[in-house]
Amino acid sequence: MTVEINNPIFEKLGMKYPIVEGGMTWAGTGALAAAVSEAGGLGFIGTGYWHGDDVRREIKRAKALTDKPFGVNVMLMSRHIREVFDVILEEGVKVVATGAGDPSPFLDELHAAGITVMPVVPSVSLAKMMERKGVDAVIAEGMESGGHIGQMTTMTLIPQVVDAVSIPVIAAGGIGDGRGVAAAFMLGASGVQMGTRFLTATESEVHENFKKKILKARDIDTIVTGNLLGSRARVLKNKMAKEFVKNEVNELQKPKPDYETIEKLESGTLRAAVQEGDKDHGAFMAGQISGLIKDEKPVADILSDIWAQATDLMGIPDTTK
Ligand SMILES: Cc1cc2nc3c(=O)[nH]c(=O)nc-3n(C[C@H](O)[C@H](O)[C@H](O)COP(=O)(O)O)c2cc1C
Repeated sequence: MTVEINNPIFEKLGMKYPIVEGGMTWAGTGALAAAVSEAGGLGFIGTGYWHGDDVRREIKRAKALTDKPFGVNVMLMSRHIREVFDVILEEGVKVVATGAGDPSPFLDELHAAGITVMPVVPSVSLAKMMERKGVDAVIAEGMESGGHIGQMTTMTLIPQVVDAVSIPVIAAGGIGDGRGVAAAFMLGASGVQMGTRFLTATESEVHENFKKKILKARDIDTIVTGNLLGSRARVLKNKMAKEFVKNEVNELQKPKPDYETIEKLESGTLRAAVQEGDKDHGAFMAGQISGLIKDEKPVADILSDIWAQATDLMGIPDTTK
């Protein structure tokens, strides 16, 4: 089998590697996104429940560090979504990734501004729906991933999505080295997205405790919270995560939490992990691939090492050298 690395979107963006840094709320700062884009990948700023001003601050930080295009990942269920899109349009961002919802109400204005739109999808049905609505690519994410997850594994999801749609499919979830990248291409993806691997990059601004927790993690050290509540998130095990899972049954008896409570719970606990390294109360979102990550190194080395290994395995030349 010959693998062809053919992704018109990545070509348009002038990327050296077909590798994306997935948007990560709080962890995916302007500095990390800029480092990934500057090194030849595509960096994303994670925005979660942020206001427009916060998004603008990180976009400006990224612009100060690179002239290369980078993206902004938006969480569609955020109440501040309109102001976030206004900032994206004003700042001339080139790529938008979306999660937790349907981006189609915004598609026309984003396309009119020349912005590439790539929603994250956890299933074939959503991938097909997104294609019908006119998005440019889908990021198909398996449940090995850190952060909010669906039901399918990357190994099973990618080939099924690839067969179901004609737009480019970017594979995410559980990819941490060149073997994972090569496997994703074998499954038919035309790009990969990693989150967890970039958390221990030198340029990653997550707290030292977060980096150490990933570097020390074993294969079975993540846990999925929110199974019963219908909002599943993969985090590294700690006191908060274990108690969360234990108390979920009781939470079900209570009335459905309001928007403010959800925002505080989801965004607040992740911020405590990322910025304060709060070992007991933080939500250390990270994927099952954490157990494979044993070093902290610059983004440029992460990308070039991974791509050298992937091209070697796929038997294609590494033209980036
Ligand atoms: C700390 C953290 C925060 C994340 N936040 C978001 C987010 O805000 N929006 C989103 O679409 N994906 C989010 N993700 C998922 C990543 O973008 C990416 O798809 C995922 O990490 C890929 O799987 P991996 O962790 O196995 O590499 C997050 C992941 C992590 C680890």
